[in-house]
Amino acid sequence: SSLSHACNIADLRRIARRRLPRPIFDYIDGGADDEVSLDRNRSAFDGHALVPDALVDVSAIRTATTLFGQPVGSPLMLSPTGLTRMFHGGAERAVARAAARHGLAYALSTMGTTRLEDLAAGFAGPRIFQIYIFKDRGLTAEFVARCKAAGFHGLALTVDTVVAGNRERDRRNGLSIPPRLTWRSMLSFAMHPRWSLSTLLSSPFDFPNVSHRVDALAGGPMSLFDYIGGQFDRSIVWKDVEWLAGQWGGPLSIKGLMTPGDAKRAIASGATSVTVSNHGGRQLDGTPAPVDRIAAIRDALGPGPEIVCDGGIRRGSDIVKALALGATACSIGRPYLYGLAAGGEAGVDRALTLLVEEFERCLALLGVNDIAALEPRHVRPCGVK
Ligand code: FNR
Repeated sequence: SSLSHACNIADLRRIARRRLPRPIFDYIDGGADDEVSLDRNRSAFDGHALVPDALVDVSAIRTATTLFGQPVGSPLMLSPTGLTRMFHGGAERAVARAAARHGLAYALSTMGTTRLEDLAAGFAGPRIFQIYIFKDRGLTAEFVARCKAAGFHGLALTVDTVVAGNRERDRRNGLSIPPRLTWRSMLSFAMHPRWSLSTLLSSPFDFPNVSHRVDALAGGPMSLFDYIGGQFDRSIVWKDVEWLAGQWGGPLSIKGLMTPGDAKRAIASGATSVTVSNHGGRQLDGTPAPVDRIAAIRDALGPGPEIVCDGGIRRGSDIVKALALGATACSIGRPYLYGLAAGGEAGVDRALTLLVEEFERCLALLGVNDIAALEPRHVRPCGVK
């Protein structure tokens, strides 16, 4: 199949682009405004050169670690993404099954298309729930209780989404609220009848984690998405993180931080982990690349707290670079979504296999047989001899 011919994540992206109607592909692929952060997230990795050690015994390589208190096979996790059922009918369950096969942690989005209880029932691996603080604190507290009951291991509080980013590809494609599909978009849907039929039949606009609380208030499906987004509390501050940490009492990452100061505040407020992220370049455009913030944030936090580098990872060597700079793990969004769109569970599996194999090959060639032995000296800014 074309999946087994996919040599890398870029190949999976090309297959996904063929299989999806253009507006749906662009929803995954695009970023905010001029997509400066989107491009920088990726290219920043090229700015770090790898410096190998020779003649190290790499006959066995240790990649296992812990994340959110759970053992994982590799320092790699799957980021939360909303609307997953739009990309393939297998939706979150397909993603979770592939993650479990590789021993990786997976984060379910509040805006996901699978009930958190249903995901937990079919996924034994380390499961994280990505939460928002809603204006209605009762809704957030209810999520915490449901996550405890369903055996989630960690929470990730996303803090870079106080308002929706300006995704101009979506606006041009008419993927707006309300939808204003252009002739071009409609043609693209018509040219992908298999996707259009199966997806529309699977009601991708159901948000089963929240809909029981908002159904009565909202109008059509897209306005439901809009309505839920409107319920994110834009007034939240660090005190609210303390509140959430107190409610949850378990591993908690603050997702969407960029500075050493905020990272320190997160830990002081009760978080156990920080996810350095600009939401994959989908929110504030112009931010630095997460990988370029890791060293300073590790410096500020010291060796203890977990640091997850999220955004722009497309190669196993990217994971090596982020870890050498001080990250505990990397997290991926688009790479597994390209795989999902390209071939469902098998496509996600292919994406994860490629990244894990590249990661291990890179470690061997770098002369590192244990991820704990990765150090800042293994990377140099390009141009520095
Ligand atoms: C996202 N992301 C995201 N983040 C989050 O906290 N909640 C969400 O519901 C979503 N939804 C979402 C949808 C889609 C289609 C994408 C591509 C991304 C951001 C995601 O968790 C992660 O931060 C980025 O995807 C990381 O960048 P890369 O790996 O895509 O470059």
